[in-house]
Amino acid sequence: MFEVLELPPADPILSLGGLIQADNRPEKLNLGIGVYVDESGASPVMSAVREAERRVLESQVSKAYLSPQGNLSFLDRLGTLVFTPALWSSRISAMQTVGCVAALRMGAEVLSLAGVRRMWVSNPTWPIHAPIFAAAGLETLEYPYYEVGAAGVDWARMLESLGSVEPGDAVLLHGCCHNPTGADFTPEQWNELAEFVTRKQAIAFVDIAYAGLGRGWDEDLRGVRSLVERVEEAVVAVSCSKSFGVYRERAGALFFVGRDADQAAVVVANGLSIARTSYSMPPDHGAATVAEILGDPALTAQWRDELEAMRVRMSTLRIELADEAARAGLDWEYLRSQQGMFSLLPLSPSEVVRLRTERAIYMPVNARICIPGLSPEGIRHLTRSCAEL
Ligand code: LMR
Repeated sequence: MFEVLELPPADPILSLGGLIQADNRPEKLNLGIGVYVDESGASPVMSAVREAERRVLESQVSKAYLSPQGNLSFLDRLGTLVFTPALWSSRISAMQTVGCVAALRMGAEVLSLAGVRRMWVSNPTWPIHAPIFAAAGLETLEYPYYEVGAAGVDWARMLESLGSVEPGDAVLLHGCCHNPTGADFTPEQWNELAEFVTRKQAIAFVDIAYAGLGRGWDEDLRGVRSLVERVEEAVVAVSCSKSFGVYRERAGALFFVGRDADQAAVVVANGLSIARTSYSMPPDHGAATVAEILGDPALTAQWRDELEAMRVRMSTLRIELADEAARAGLDWEYLRSQQGMFSLLPLSPSEVVRLRTERAIYMPVNARICIPGLSPEGIRHLTRSCAEL
């Protein structure tokens, strides 16, 4: 039976890991997967997370199942933090998911059940978006979003293309720190998007994976909050992987915004029934850890400080990269005004491969760089290598 199976295409981001590990050159620069690393190149466990984990382990008296929704304190505290208390208590339902990928998948499955057939995604976007939506039976259509070398979003072309959105379509929007471009919507553009999806009778599906790593937690979520306030229905997927540094714990959440609380409850019940036939229930440890942090003001303050330090370090590295690029004769000024963990460099796929083989510099073929992977030496190595291409 298995003889009919062929190897699937390599994952464009995860497949870099093996190549990087096998490379022993001392100048090796890993700008691949979106994981925060500190100055020493290590991906640290936040001290707020360590303390919360200690408390969780000490206080946990059972490993019995929680509810199908997952950890309810996690959902309540994260929902409050993402949406503000007033919005969260109005007409939003939630389910915990196995990381944000499962949130995207379950959200797409629910949309499909509700009759949605087409999902519009930005070009470029995270390469796994389209396969996730295809797996849920949705056709993926692209809207132009960004031209490499520009600072901000290609708004006019985007709106022109989205003119073809039909009633019942879904539109995927990155909540902040767009992956892979680092170019985000302005608050005014978020308001226009809310009007747009309402006028088109379409639904917004927002992916939030980098909250707190752009301009700060509340500022990063301002656009999503104002969209949710203005639209009748929406879907919002949230990842704790980056914002809490709990990648391998798979702590994600899926929020449904309905016309009223009763409708939102029916929608999430559909999400739970789909999850039941897949992973059944989400794992608890990561969610319990986040719930512990958000349930204690002192621990929350400690987490916010650590998140802020990560954010500031990344935005400083961006500026240093643009400065050093200018010294090397490259015009990468656009990097200065972008946000979050990623930006795209103006490199062709063959130049990316040359950087790998000739200079031991690793990034996905779309030339996305993971900013925290840079160091002062790494910045010099990258800019000189690009200038000499
Ligand atoms: C990334 O974009 O590198 C991260 O979101 C990790 C992943 O799963 O691709």
